Amino acid sequence: MTRTFIAIDLGDAAREALRGELRRLSRVVPNVRLTDPTDLHLTLVFLGELDDERLAAVIAVTREVAQHTAPFSLALAGLGVFGPPSAPRIIWAGVAGDLPRLQQTQRRLAAALAERGFPQETRPYAPHLTLARLKRPLDATAAQELGALLTHPPAHAPRWRVTDTRVMRSDLSANGTRYTPISIAPFASAG
Ligand code: 2AM
Repeated sequence: MTRTFIAIDLGDAAREALRGELRRLSRVVPNVRLTDPTDLHLTLVFLGELDDERLAAVIAVTREVAQHTAPFSLALAGLGVFGPPSAPRIIWAGVAGDLPRLQQTQRRLAAALAERGFPQETRPYAPHLTLARLKRPLDATAAQELGALLTHPPAHAPRWRVTDTRVMRSDLSANGTRYTPISIAPFASAG
């Protein structure tokens, strides 16, 4: 079985900028699990554990949708949290840029997967790049410092061109979770 999701990769400049954000976060909220910069990605659809047949179907659907998708641009946006500000569960970086095209690509994938009998996500799609996962509430100082980070817009917001979607595997281990691309589906007019 393969723990599977479909994601968009980041441009080099965006990944580099997020490396900086992760360094700042590690000073503000020590002792939290930060995402390894090489693992940063934008999830479109999470599928969970799939057998080989279902995985092959996901790869086929992702290629089909990509063939009808043209490249578009995204940019990094500011940081945010899921959960209460004093006890966030996830600290994330937002995305800006051509969000209508991002949403459209996500909807097309979700619809094509639903047609093949995959269960549908009922929550609305909230695009985000997970930077840290927290198990415990923050102490008052950390909460205050994180609050200050959240209200400051990013120093610069690198853009990148999205030219494919990727079927990814997620491997959970004692050392954390690693993400590996299994299949890359290039968009129609991507050079
Ligand atoms: P997250 O970073 O907000 O947890 C691999 O786990 C990717 O799929 C992550 O980007 C994760 O988002 C996303 N994802 C979406 N729904 C998920 C779920 N129910 N369980 C685990 N990961 C999920």
